[in-house]
Amino acid sequence: MSAPPKTVLHASAEEEAAIRAAVRAAADMASPTGERRLARLEDAAAAAAFFADEAVSGPIYDLPRPFTEENVRAWIAGRIAKHEAGEGILTFVYDGDEIVSYADVAVWPQHASGELAGAVRADRQNSGQGSANMRAMFEWMFEGLGLRLICLTAALDNIRSQRGIDAAGFTRMGGRDVVRPDGTVRQSVYWEMTREAWRAKWKSAS
Ligand SMILES: CC(C)(COP(=O)(O)OP(=O)(O)OC[C@H]1O[C@@H](n2cnc3c(N)ncnc32)[C@H](O)[C@@H]1OP(=O)(O)O)[C@@H](O)C(=O)NCCC(=O)NCCS
Repeated sequence: MSAPPKTVLHASAEEEAAIRAAVRAAADMASPTGERRLARLEDAAAAAAFFADEAVSGPIYDLPRPFTEENVRAWIAGRIAKHEAGEGILTFVYDGDEIVSYADVAVWPQHASGELAGAVRADRQNSGQGSANMRAMFEWMFEGLGLRLICLTAALDNIRSQRGIDAAGFTRMGGRDVVRPDGTVRQSVYWEMTREAWRAKWKSAS
């Protein structure tokens, strides 16, 4: 249900192809919370248990409610198809048998743009891990995948997300109505950040 940024960039055919290739080539990677692994259908039961906690899933509009194993498996299958098309990457971090965080990257290669959604397990919230995860993902999306623009949304009452996103250097650009899978609309705060602005703030030019 995610939508590309309000600002519309146009990628050349070469840039688009390079982004698709980088997305398809994405592999397991290190993260501030542990090894971030590409989602597989076998993750469905652990992911359903992870999302069952409203402290984790409540603020996220595009998850497959209700969180039955079947619904979550179908959602993961859709994300795997996106990955194969070079248009998305869903990852999970495990602690033993339990998922402790997830990150869902949407990519629009034709616009050199992307979006990120994610959450950490309740016992790991408010510890700076969420913000550290977000910054690591933004760095990878800009410098690893080659995106030039990232957009984000957060619920109007999601103060932690809003603070973390502001602190990462994103610019608020008004609001956006996002559409849940059941067709209902949620009002959100909306941000964008360009790769140039990211490099200027974090001096991460590669
Ligand atoms: C949103 C989330 C990823 C943030 O991660 P976190 O580890 O809990 O948050 P952090 O400890 O990094 O704190 C983020 C910011 O909120 C602030 N914060 C934390 N708790 C707060 C509270 N109760 N009230 C106000 N601010 C708070 C922190 O000081 C920090 O701000 P700063 O960057 O200006 O210092 C995590 O809380 C989460 O998974 N929440 C549920 C799902 C969700 O909301 N996902 C994002 C959807 S857009």
